[in-house]
Amino acid sequence: MGQNRRSFIKKAGLAGAALAGAARSVAQEAPVPYEILKPKPRPAPGQTLNIAVIGAGGMGTVDVNTALEHEGIRIVAACDLYDGRLEAAKERWGQDLFLTKNYKDILKRKDVDMVIIGTPDHWHKAISIDAMKAGKHVYCEKPMVHSVGEGQELINAWKAYGTVFMVGSQGLSSLGNEKAKELLEAGVIGDINYAEGFWARHSPAGAWQYPVPEDASEKTVDWATYISNTTKRDFDPLRFFRWRNYRDYGTGMSGDLFVHLFSSLHFITSSLGPERIAAMGGLRYWKDGREVPDVLLGMFNYPDSEAHPGFNLSLRCNFVDGTSGSTYLKINGSKGSMNIGWNDVTVERNRTVHSDDPFLDAKEKETGTRSDRKQILPPQKMVYEVEKGYKGAHYDHFGNLFRAIREGGQVVEDPIFGFRACAPALLCNDSYFENRFIDWDPVNMKVV
Ligand SMILES: NC(=O)c1ccc[n+]([C@@H]2O[C@H](COP(=O)([O-])OP(=O)(O)OC[C@H]3O[C@@H](n4cnc5c(N)ncnc54)[C@H](O)[C@@H]3O)[C@@H](O)[C@H]2O)c1
Repeated sequence: MGQNRRSFIKKAGLAGAALAGAARSVAQEAPVPYEILKPKPRPAPGQTLNIAVIGAGGMGTVDVNTALEHEGIRIVAACDLYDGRLEAAKERWGQDLFLTKNYKDILKRKDVDMVIIGTPDHWHKAISIDAMKAGKHVYCEKPMVHSVGEGQELINAWKAYGTVFMVGSQGLSSLGNEKAKELLEAGVIGDINYAEGFWARHSPAGAWQYPVPEDASEKTVDWATYISNTTKRDFDPLRFFRWRNYRDYGTGMSGDLFVHLFSSLHFITSSLGPERIAAMGGLRYWKDGREVPDVLLGMFNYPDSEAHPGFNLSLRCNFVDGTSGSTYLKINGSKGSMNIGWNDVTVERNRTVHSDDPFLDAKEKETGTRSDRKQILPPQKMVYEVEKGYKGAHYDHFGNLFRAIREGGQVVEDPIFGFRACAPALLCNDSYFENRFIDWDPVNMKVV
């Protein structure tokens, strides 16, 4: 994705102005009034599904390109608030693409079956609800919502409008996550008691200091719309192009990154989420005016549940990590542990060890259960790796969504799952900023 972002930024500076007119003239053709529409009937087998992207930036672009790898998918429209992104979309996906800066123009179009929402976090809820109301299926990037208060509203809309809704934490659709789930359920590492995860980075782009295009101005950016659902401010290109650093638009390290680890962990353990959340951290290095920490630690208490015994989770994110970058998710059980990637799982298990207790020793000798004879032991370390040619988690995530749209059935990351992964991440921020523990009811999805 870094590569895409860099090549886009280069182009974007040149492209903007020419597009402003093009976007508006195509947008004016927008047909049919905007109303509550029933989801369309399932497409016939083999029928092409038309998709549109709202927020055609870094991830929106990667999402569309991944969706297009599937058979029978066509992109027909793109919406973005910055001319450079629209121009790039047109260059990338064809001159016939419908372009607009107003996402409602996309929702009015009868030829759009599904939208991909790749905007900053503060727009996820409103666009998702409007899209479902307009009868569109939705792929919404993580985190599903910008604040905990928005979650139930989105879930209720999904229940009311009945379209298919998938959240974009694609890692849980990976073969690695599926294998980890299977191994945990088979008891290979015993009962879970602890899990940990981290994201480590140390680069300007990794720490969200993205380049700002040269032509960034109120002529090329629809700033009024961007801030129309949050604090009113004068145009600030940093707040637009480096939105992750500001709380009105982004959700900090936790909403951006921890949410992936929650999604994978909840998928693997079938957990509904933690009941207690505590965070600490600080702004240690990237003091560029950002409002969020660059080192964040979260601790989470998972209660006993039908799916698993109680366990603790510790997450950390460090943007000043001198060890360079990596990501990691590990689950510890009573018999061993698993390091879980999207493409591999490494299981490590304790070897059977004899006790030094003289009483047990005597007892074993007496019953003949202990001898000096060597044993055949199970492997201490097992590495599972995907086969060559695997198309990856992101491809599979879209496959899951397209199957649900075409054949009916559930997706792996619906809004209820998505909210249960997103809420502890958002509450981790609340704990940090409010300097207190937060209690959460993971079953009823409410702050206690
Ligand atoms: N699943 C993943 O691995 C992954 C990776 C990166 C980002 N993301 C998520 O994707 C989303 C976008 O992140 P990004 O890195 O692509 O950001 P980005 O800044 O590259 O792209 C966001 C785009 O949205 C546009 N935009 C802003 N408000 C809009 C609105 N109201 N209507 C239409 N367009 C609007 C901006 O102009 C910009 O082009 C975020 O929610 C982020 O958390 C997910």
